[in-house]
Amino acid sequence: MRKPRRLSNEQLAPWVWEAKNLSIRTSPEKSGDAASSHSEGEPEQPVARPPITPIDWTALFGNANPTEIEVGTGKGLFLLNAALARPNTNFFGIEIVRKYQLYAATRYAIRNLPNVKTTCADAKLVLRDYVSAGSLAAVHVYFPDPWWKSRHKKRRVFTPDFAADAARAIATGGRLYIATDVEEYYGVMTAIVGAMPAFKLRPEEEQRAAPRTEAGFATNFERKALETGGSVWRAVYARTSEPVTVVADPVE
Ligand SMILES: C[S@@+](CC[C@H](N)C(=O)[O-])C[C@H]1O[C@@H](n2cnc3c(N)ncnc32)[C@H](O)[C@@H]1O
Repeated sequence: MRKPRRLSNEQLAPWVWEAKNLSIRTSPEKSGDAASSHSEGEPEQPVARPPITPIDWTALFGNANPTEIEVGTGKGLFLLNAALARPNTNFFGIEIVRKYQLYAATRYAIRNLPNVKTTCADAKLVLRDYVSAGSLAAVHVYFPDPWWKSRHKKRRVFTPDFAADAARAIATGGRLYIATDVEEYYGVMTAIVGAMPAFKLRPEEEQRAAPRTEAGFATNFERKALETGGSVWRAVYARTSEPVTVVADPVE
């Protein structure tokens, strides 16, 4: 793949959304800063937490089209195809690694795509704190980093809390898409979602609606998996009108 030329921050600005207050901690930790400087035995001081304003999708995109989020966009291939294929849908990509976020944003900027934006942040926090209930048409989670064992719990994106936040964010009738090349992780994700009345499995053929490149894959990691003879597990769920529950973690 040819490397897109690097655009300046000013040129990329329309494709980049910066979260305010995202790194503010809610409890003191041993980092030595002012917020955590209490000594042992002293009562903990509450940490000031500036108010968070949920993202107003209509204001952000300048239209009232439905909005879909992708968690862990990597180099942004899925959103590129999705944004081109569905110009009347808004796409918001969340990627924790800045260089990947900027790589993806550059691809969208070069094509001047008006319906896709990116942010560099922990998707778990964005979904939890910045997305209003019922404000999304879909959440896509493709090939999340394979931290599925119990000792990887802190790094795992797809947890019961994450799934509950996704269910809260997705409007009734909206979709949750998951895919991975790690069978065990697929088992974890489907066990979590399958135990939530807020989601109902859709027929397999609905996956074909996912945008693909001409070579037949939807994301970079899907291409890598297929080129090396690996398998891909995927599922799509509809958001029901049932209440959101946080289910037990199947990994514990
Ligand atoms: C295995 S890659 C898959 C990328 C892309 N979805 C694909 O299928 O080609 C996982 C991506 O998720 C990102 N990621 C990991 N944890 C994340 C988090 N908490 N929030 C947002 N992105 C995250 C990683 O930096 C990486 O780019």
